[in-house]
Amino acid sequence: MAQYKYTGYKRPKNTKKTLLHLLGYLGHHKWLFLLVGLLVCISTGANLMGTYLLKPVINRFIMPGDMSGLVRAVVRMGGMYLCGALATLGYNQLMIKSAQTVVQEIRRDLFVHVQKLPLKYFDAHTHGELMSRFTNDVDTVQEAMNNSFAMIIQNFLMLFGTVVMMMVLSVRLSLIVLVFLAVMFAFIRFNGSRSRKYFQRQQAELGRINGFVEEMMAGQKVEKVFNHEKKDFENFCALNESYRKEATSALTYTGMQVPTIVSLSYLNYAVSACVGGLYAIAGLLDIGSLASYLVYVRQSAMPLNQFTQQVNLLLTALAGAERIFDLMEAEPESDEGDVTLCNVREEKGALVETPERTGHFAWKVPEKGTEARLVSLKGDVRFENVVFGYVPEKRILNGISLYAKPGQKIAFVGSTGAGKTTIINLINRFYEIQSGTITYDGIDIRRIRKADLRHSLAMVIQETHLFTGTIADNIRYGRLDASDEEVREAARIANADSFIRRLPDGYDTMLHSDGSNLSQGQRQLLAIARAAVARPPVLILDEATSSIDTRTERLIEKGMDAIMDGRTVFVIAHRLSTVRNSRAIMVLEHGEIIERGDHEALLEQKGRYYQLYTGQFELE
Ligand SMILES: Nc1ncnc2c1ncn2[C@@H]1O[C@H](COP(=O)(O)OP(=O)(O)OP(=O)(O)O)[C@@H](O)[C@H]1O
Ligand SMILES: [Mg+2]
Repeated sequence: MAQYKYTGYKRPKNTKKTLLHLLGYLGHHKWLFLLVGLLVCISTGANLMGTYLLKPVINRFIMPGDMSGLVRAVVRMGGMYLCGALATLGYNQLMIKSAQTVVQEIRRDLFVHVQKLPLKYFDAHTHGELMSRFTNDVDTVQEAMNNSFAMIIQNFLMLFGTVVMMMVLSVRLSLIVLVFLAVMFAFIRFNGSRSRKYFQRQQAELGRINGFVEEMMAGQKVEKVFNHEKKDFENFCALNESYRKEATSALTYTGMQVPTIVSLSYLNYAVSACVGGLYAIAGLLDIGSLASYLVYVRQSAMPLNQFTQQVNLLLTALAGAERIFDLMEAEPESDEGDVTLCNVREEKGALVETPERTGHFAWKVPEKGTEARLVSLKGDVRFENVVFGYVPEKRILNGISLYAKPGQKIAFVGSTGAGKTTIINLINRFYEIQSGTITYDGIDIRRIRKADLRHSLAMVIQETHLFTGTIADNIRYGRLDASDEEVREAARIANADSFIRRLPDGYDTMLHSDGSNLSQGQRQLLAIARAAVARPPVLILDEATSSIDTRTERLIEKGMDAIMDGRTVFVIAHRLSTVRNSRAIMVLEHGEIIERGDHEALLEQKGRYYQLYTGQFELE
């Protein structure tokens, strides 16, 4: 089951580091955030002052009956509140703008980094896990940036300011409020810790439901084939029920907070009003002060409530941000190569680098002290005692040595899991070898810049993968500047042209979800066309024709032979008829080449190839 890692209300492991990293992003827009801070202060100050103005309004104008003064004072008060409202509106809008930009930057950096990760990373992490960085985690950060940041500052200032203003109005009365605030705070902490426990369980259950549904969607066909609907429905209901239970408990506690705080604040208000009234009667407090004081009392519970909620949200967001940054810090694919690919032309028998596109390439090998050496790109690949394992403990290839000269077609055969795909994964450095060397035109591939190395190889991988887009787009993926005619030509070589032209929209037919509207064999034809359009010096075909009928395969072979004349081809196939005409056939078993030679020689040897070819292997 895909493992989703949801962590609601979970604290980040290293709050300081994450916060600093996040602040780094905010730093790109520091003037905007300073402006937000300023507007927050204005908004809070105006609200606090507006309320304070009630005191002079009552004492100086209402009590003495000064009507015109009253009107002026009310206008002033209104102006103050209006100022506050405008500042609030302003910082909200600014926050939305800057938060969205920051989140966009985070998303962009995350995407760029994911593209740089080595395949090893994807082997060890599920897609669901990586996806949830882009969805859940980015969402929580976005949510917190939109609201929490400004709200936390605002609420803190508001709470602090309210208490100060109450002290200014009456120190004795504010003692009551302080006691109430302390009780409220204690309740929020206690309740929060209980609800957090359930909330975490709720998120874990949600993760399980998501993983289950995702798997069901992907495995729809298998579910139907084995009539598993009922069993799967029961499993789903069980998950659904545990989610309901945990969510109910979590919300029960969360739902208690606001009503309790509101009731406590009413009580606070009532007590303050009674005691304040008694003070006023006893002449210890004037009516104006009492009125503004009571408004402050009413206002005091809100910021406390919101402050704690926002702090929780912010911590959740920081936990999300931490997971995002962890992924961003995962070690990228190493690329220490300094050898690059360049266009060349021949001048008096020597190669000369040229900026024009000549279609003739060479490796540019920097040499210490002298000018870079140019080595014509031919496609000569050699393995020397290569040892490799996906994990260090388990060796998959034990000392493979082989060579492929330009223009040769080299085939790999062998039973499932023998290591055929693994060998070709090493040629374009999807993985790093443990010992031995692989050279390309005499240059150690570790010296070649990865992008250039991969540029010089075209590969049809074992699992065909098509992208959302038109058929032409998918073929052009092999070489972005290929003209329409070149795309068609590649399709003809791959023998895909005839089926494409029969589609209602021809080359403009849209493909969705990995080409689900095509047959398996048609998908493979497109993958072959994609490699053909690239016209590389080295072509690698991994089970490229396994779903294609033998007659079509022959036609493709002919077309390919024409374009691959003088280039190196590696073919992996289970169908031995595919590899018969190869220059050399390597028979692999348990990561070792146990036989090599051409078809005739191997048959004469009467070894494993002979057994595979005559079907004796299966019969024994
Ligand atoms: N990404 C991976 N991580 C760990 N082990 C792997 C990985 N890919 C393959 N292996 C292991 O490496 C061994 C060789 O696999 P490989 O894919 O090279 O076989 P193959 O010869 O191409 O088989 P097939 O004919 O089925 O395609 C297998 O035992 C497999 O379990
Ligand atoms: Mg394979």
